[in-house]
Amino acid sequence: MTTVSHHNIVDFIEDIIERRGSESYLGEVVSMREHFLQAADLAARDGASDSLIAASLLHDVGHYTSEFGENAIELGIDNLHQDAGASVLVDFFPPSVVQPVKMHVDAKRYLCAVEPAYFDGLSPASVQSLAAQGGPFDKSEVESFESSPWLDDAVRLRRYDDGAKVQGRSTPGFSDYVELLRSLVMTPD
Ligand SMILES: [Fe+2]
Repeated sequence: MTTVSHHNIVDFIEDIIERRGSESYLGEVVSMREHFLQAADLAARDGASDSLIAASLLHDVGHYTSEFGENAIELGIDNLHQDAGASVLVDFFPPSVVQPVKMHVDAKRYLCAVEPAYFDGLSPASVQSLAAQGGPFDKSEVESFESSPWLDDAVRLRRYDDGAKVQGRSTPGFSDYVELLRSLVMTPD
């Protein structure tokens, strides 16, 4: 198995998505690849920063942590896909990419607490996973979430995530984001 480094992280992720992107996205009508690309495209159309476009594209990379082999074990990955995604990205991408990924599930719990109409718009699969994720935030969880400097980006990513489930929507491909992703990869000191 290839060891992941800052030299090959973008190719490594592209390879995973090429091989496994046609798997269906957690009970939704789109494939994983369509879901990632739609999320990135929604971010780009919304005028998001490069970091937030990258976060939108990579937000569910935590579903593939077994692909990261030794790195995954080293990084102490658990089964929560948002933490797993952040863990595999943290060595290679800045906090502006990693933090919104890490917070994208909590952002759903946050929005369910503060925006009643948000819950009504969730897909059936997303409502089902909400319970397993802990349900809507309570008041103190809302306050603590709002104190994060990444609140705005995490909520924006969440909305792109929720919107990225449209059957048959055409988008740019992964290769259209390679340059943007490479520009964000951190080089070790
Ligand atoms: Fe997602």
